[in-house]
Formats: sequence, C-alpha cells, structure tokens
Amino acid sequence: MEEIKFYYGENIPLELHKVRVVQKLHLVPIERRLKALEEGGFNTFRLTTKDVFLDMLTDSGTNAMSDNQMAAMMQADDAYAGSQSFFKLQKAVEEVLGKKYFLPVHQGRAAENILCNAYIRKGDLIPMNYHFTTTMAHITQYGGKVTELLYDEGFNVDSDYPFKGNMHIEKLEETIKTHGAENIPFIRVEASTNLIGGQPFSIQNLREVRAIADKYNIRLVMDASLLGENAYLIHLREEEFKNTSLGEIIKIMTDLADIVYFSARKLSSSRGGGICTNDHDIYRELEPLIPLFEGFLTYGGISVREIEAMAVGLYETLDETMIRQSPDFIAYLVNALDSNGVPMVKPAGVLGAHVNAMEICKHIPQNEYPAGALAAALFLISGIRGMERGTLSNQRDEDGNETLANMELVRLAVPRRVFTLSQIKYVVDRMTWLYENRELIGGLRFVYEPPVLRFFMGGLEPVSDWPQKLMAKFKADFGESL
Ligand code: F0G
Repeated sequence: MEEIKFYYGENIPLELHKVRVVQKLHLVPIERRLKALEEGGFNTFRLTTKDVFLDMLTDSGTNAMSDNQMAAMMQADDAYAGSQSFFKLQKAVEEVLGKKYFLPVHQGRAAENILCNAYIRKGDLIPMNYHFTTTMAHITQYGGKVTELLYDEGFNVDSDYPFKGNMHIEKLEETIKTHGAENIPFIRVEASTNLIGGQPFSIQNLREVRAIADKYNIRLVMDASLLGENAYLIHLREEEFKNTSLGEIIKIMTDLADIVYFSARKLSSSRGGGICTNDHDIYRELEPLIPLFEGFLTYGGISVREIEAMAVGLYETLDETMIRQSPDFIAYLVNALDSNGVPMVKPAGVLGAHVNAMEICKHIPQNEYPAGALAAALFLISGIRGMERGTLSNQRDEDGNETLANMELVRLAVPRRVFTLSQIKYVVDRMTWLYENRELIGGLRFVYEPPVLRFFMGGLEPVSDWPQKLMAKFKADFGESL
C-alpha cells in the first residue's frame, strides 16, 4: 500500500479526493442544543440535523457518494421486472463478492429478516463473534437465541490485539456439541465487528470457523456490511496478506462463507442491501421470501437509481484510496484523543472512533446509561452527534430485566470522505474538554421505553440538573464561543 510522507514529518492522513458538492452546516448556540436534547428525549437518534453540527451518528447511508455513482444513477432503468440496472448489480456482486446468486433487499436488516424467517425455529441457537442490534432483534423475534463467542481479548477495551473480532474456536465447537448441530441453523461471522468498536477478524480465524462449520455440516453466514474495511485491516495486520490486493482478500473472505449478506448503506456507500450465495439450494430456499417481504426479485425494495449506485459502489470498495480514508481518519482521531488521555477503544477500528464511557463515566451506574449520558453531554457541549452503544442499545431479557452491556461506548462515526481534518480536530478538542469535566456528567432514565429496539425512539431524562451545570462550565471556559 502506498504511503505519502510529509517533508516536515507530520503524520496526518491526506485526502485523495476533492470536494465538488458541499452542504452548509450550522453550529447552533449551546442553549438551543440543550433545548434540542430536551425535545429529543436526550436520545441522539431523535435529534434533527437542523441542530446537529457534525453528524457522527453513523456511516449508514451517509458515506459520500462518488461522481461515478451519481452519474450511474441517471442511467437507471425503471422497470418492475427485468430492469437492466439489476443485471449490472448482479454482475458487480459476482465480480466483487464472487457469488453468482443474488437477492436484493431494501437494507441490511431486511436480509436478516429473510435469513431468520427461512432458517430459525424456536429454540435454535446462533453462535456468532458478536451480535448487532438488528440481528439480535430478528433472531429473537423468530424464537432463536444468540451466543457470542469472542476471545477475552475482544472485550479488552485498551489493547493492541489486531483481530478482536475473531471467533473463539474452542468455544464454538463446545457450543455445537452441547446444543446439537441440528439446532444450529447457521454460524454468523460479522466483518469489522460493529458493537465492539469496528474490530476485524483474521482470515486465519475465518478458515478455522469454516473448518468447524464443515465438520458439523452447519451453514456459515457472513455479515459483510463492513467487509471492505475488514479486508483493509487484514492487508495491514495479517502477515500472509500484506502483498495481497483488497479485491483478492475480499474474495478469499467471501469464498469461505455459504451466505453473504450486507447493508449497502455501508458496504457500497448507497442504500439497499443484499444476500448472495453460490449454493443453488440456498438460493431457492430464500428466493420466495423476497417478493413477500421486499419486492420483485429485480429490485427488492430498492430504488433502481440506488441499485445503479450500489453496483458502482461495490467496484469502488476495491479502491484502496477510497476504503482507507475512513479508517485512516479514525486512527488519527483515536490516537489524538488517546494522547490527550481520553479512554478510547484500541486499537483503532473502522466505522468510527469509540470512546470508552464505562471508564469516563465510572461515577454513573450502568442502569443510568453512562454511554447514553456521555453522548448527550457531547452533543450539548459541541453539536457533535455520536451514538450510544452500550446498555441502552441492549434489549431486556425474557423476564424484562435490564441486560448490562459488556462495554459502554460512544461511537463517533467517520463516514467515508465526509469530514475534513479541521473538523476532526474540533472533535478532539471538545471531547478532550468534556473528558476533563467528566465529573459534571450525570445519568439518564427512561420516560418512554419502546418494547423493541428501544434505543431508536426511546425518550429519557437526566436524573438531576447536570446538563445545566455542564452548560454553565462550558460558558465559563468558552465565553461567547459556539
Ligand atoms: N449488520 C451490521 C454489521 C450493521 O452495522 C448494520 C447496520 C446492519 C447489519 C443493519 O443494516 O441498517 O441497512 O438495516 N448498522 C448501522 C450502524 C445502522 O449505524 O451501525 P441496515
């Protein structure tokens, strides 16, 4: 991989794209930001972009699109059935992901719905490296259960282990023996494991998982939403692949799975999603569910324009300069905050920088949602919108008890080619200030708790007047600054 050195030795990521369409941002005063939090139930999902300065909620559907993607959208072939746009996408899937059967779905969780509908029966168990919120919700909705099989290192927030997303091979085999292979319809591996900080698995580990799947004749399903970034980190960190191109790494990875599904909102910087396989029987099992839940087989609930953008976006995941932009900015952000003493998930992963709220807000009990509180506090003092990834994002157990998360993180997403380095420096500045004033942050409690995926629309309130106190300190330190 080519490196660009600066003569004076500064080590910063350099943008290898130019900005040709821009959108004006607004940084509203802190008083308005407090009001916005109150209106949005102290839940960053419920803020509106009118009040948000840097939107670091997610990279989902927010990656910058390329000129070629936009151009392709203009050529979309509108047809209910047999659209040429679909065949372009099918070809891209075959060429990039190496799978010849492709089923389009409207986004990643729709693929999860289809897979769970087809394969999960009550009492089934799905072993995986780690859950994603929507995956868990669908599996439990169909009567299944999830078991997470990371190595201990995966939970170690401050680590230099390169592959924290690896699946624990011995535990996987043990689980299959105890639960019975007949009750395990598939094993799931998630590329760049999202909820533990966008952490990759290695190909070595994937090969071992494949061997177990073969031994017990269980399907292996790969969530490839963040496949390109996982491949990039394999290229950087796994000796065997340091001279292998991204395209080849991606193929090696997808070859090892029976079913690959993805959110195109992430993978191809578009909208949409898909399921692909080389197994004709699997294809036939899933196919009837697409018209039922999504739409006809040549659009699957996706606009044809987005299908065009998806096809181009898939080819662009093979472009190193595109794929590395976000992870390189994230590494810059994580390292800068780390050197200012702010507890971060390390090593830097993909998708975003992950702030360790368990450590920063150790004075807040987990059932008062330290990561939710930190996300709200960060928005208040900066207009930066991050996402809670901790207990608040967990679902209650069957008896209605709170399930405390292994990690309490605030994710600051860095969508591809969206932010400039000075904006990233602003994040470093405000997050560092907040860290130094962390004692002023207090907990949150629910006033409205939806029964499913509660973190999306739930409403909370602060347990005391801590937001007012934090605002007063901000004004004392920053004066008239926004
Ligand atoms: N799998 C993974 C690993 C994801 O990160 C996501 C979405 C999905 C599945 C579901 O896909 O949103 O298209 O339905 N992640 C987004 C995020 C929401 O913010 O991390 P979807």
